[in-house]
Amino acid sequence: MRRKYLATCNPGLEDVTAEEVGSVLPGSRIVEVRDKRGRVVFESPYGEKWLASLYTLRSTHSISLLLLEARVGKDRGALAKIRDLSRSSGAARLIPEGASFAVRAERIGEGHEYTSIDIARYAGDGIGAAYEEVYGVKPLVRLGAPSIVFHAEVDDEIFRLGVLIAGEKSMHRRGYRVYDHPAALKPTIAYGLLRLAGARDGSTIMDPMCGGGTVAIEAALLFESPESIICVDKSPRHIRGAVLNSMAARVSSRIRFLVHDATRLEEKISPGSVDYVASNPPYGIRLGDPWSVRRLYDRFLPSLHRVMKGGGRASIITADSEYFEKAARRAGFRVLHARKVRHGDLWASVLVLEA
Ligand SMILES: C[S@@+](CC[C@H](N)C(=O)[O-])C[C@H]1O[C@@H](n2cnc3c(N)ncnc32)[C@H](O)[C@@H]1O
Repeated sequence: MRRKYLATCNPGLEDVTAEEVGSVLPGSRIVEVRDKRGRVVFESPYGEKWLASLYTLRSTHSISLLLLEARVGKDRGALAKIRDLSRSSGAARLIPEGASFAVRAERIGEGHEYTSIDIARYAGDGIGAAYEEVYGVKPLVRLGAPSIVFHAEVDDEIFRLGVLIAGEKSMHRRGYRVYDHPAALKPTIAYGLLRLAGARDGSTIMDPMCGGGTVAIEAALLFESPESIICVDKSPRHIRGAVLNSMAARVSSRIRFLVHDATRLEEKISPGSVDYVASNPPYGIRLGDPWSVRRLYDRFLPSLHRVMKGGGRASIITADSEYFEKAARRAGFRVLHARKVRHGDLWASVLVLEA
């Protein structure tokens, strides 16, 4: 039996998720990629071995078994449709008798005459009414620690209802972050940077401004036998944090940590030795001085170019793509690709460079 699933992911990295789904779940088919919406709908066989594989996805935030998709519109009339559709969706039959449930909702896009709270309430009413029809008693709705969690969303005009099957906690929370870097990257974005750089097993991978080590840890979790994973930061405190995080992820022995300045990489790293780089240099927004970051780019990129192999690739996330791109070209890189990726409240840019 084949079923449809909804994967949510970091907006801007939907193609990375679609590719991962294809490689982790052979035989699956991508039905829709909602560009910049962080949504990928796919179809795949349904069964125990497939469900277990879903947990291994590293680019997704949640996975739902999709129960329905229907156009409901943006005016308030949509709410009655959401209730009726949820009632007839079969969702109630997924709740074991006596178990509690909750609906978590999202609203994506602009111009709706209702909120995500309305979506959750009307979908919950519909599922609750169907539960009463099935079991003859009122359902147990529990917002904290429910047994079953439904995901309801309106994406522009489309209503989707699914049941979360890989846990309610976002899958980007890997559990290894014992040291909380103040500007830590979501592990799902770190994974995306590695994929966009084209990083491969057996190669040398580096994050020259690694903070709490997210990129290096994701690389160590992804690849079985990399030549080397190098994690550089000028701050001894962040490097200590990165070591702690990598110990929590059980990969510390596979990463080389260096307290060093990324504008002088060649002092510690052999020239022409690094195949892939994925990194998140400071945005400088909090410093309020774009020129301090630009000066950093000007000094960092030539040094990075020197330690990378010819043809090696770097994917870098930045809030100042225009300047970064110019500085990268001046340093001798070719810019292969640029895209917008949602990073917290910001649409940042990811640039893929070739040395
Ligand atoms: C945005 S944070 C990286 C966060 C990291 N991706 C994580 O998930 O924790 C940028 C890091 O660059 C480091 N940094 C800034 N200038 C540097 C330099 N010249 N050399 C090395 N590291 C530098 C900072 O100490 C900071 O930890």
